Amino acid sequence: MSFDTTAANQQRHRFDADARVWLFGYGSLIFKADFVYISRRPASIRDWSRRFWQGSHDHRGTPDAPGRVVTLVPDPGAICHGMAYLITPEVFDHLDHREKNGYLRFMAPLTFEDGSGASSLVYIATKDNAAFLGPASDEDIARQIAGAVGPSGRNRDYLTDLATALHALGKSDPHVLAIVDALSTEPLAPIVPSSRKPEPP
Ligand code: SIN
Repeated sequence: MSFDTTAANQQRHRFDADARVWLFGYGSLIFKADFVYISRRPASIRDWSRRFWQGSHDHRGTPDAPGRVVTLVPDPGAICHGMAYLITPEVFDHLDHREKNGYLRFMAPLTFEDGSGASSLVYIATKDNAAFLGPASDEDIARQIAGAVGPSGRNRDYLTDLATALHALGKSDPHVLAIVDALSTEPLAPIVPSSRKPEPP
């Protein structure tokens, strides 16, 4: 099940035409920056944790076989590392469409690596959205990810691209790594069929 948040997001914030806005990305927005930005800087936000608790019916899964992607859940004292992008307001047309499966824009203060801060907008899929799946064991999350593929590609690539991007930032997230581990030992992981035949020896 899904609910398109595009229209709701367009009503949430008013920007001056010449505004510059920091966007904080913690999931695919770290490793897939398919939008125009002025600059980007590693950053973090406090009191939120990244979790593979959001269903993906439109990018890494389908309505019949949703994948799992990350959202943020409140977690007092936690630090979530990611990437901040300085953008102009018109970029939200693209971002609102991309994040339409349950994500709403929220304001959150971020901290850059040098300790300075800024206000930012972050897309969060809260637990009351129709595509929210909620907690499950690492093994069950890995199993669901292993079997899911959607218009943006394999769900397992979202997971490994996120882990790789965090590693490149010099960060690790125990939740993400636990699911990478569970997936690598998942014995029944469905394999996406390939039409390629083995090369003759
Ligand atoms: C984000 O990356 O900040 C939002 C979640 C996603 O698109 O994966």
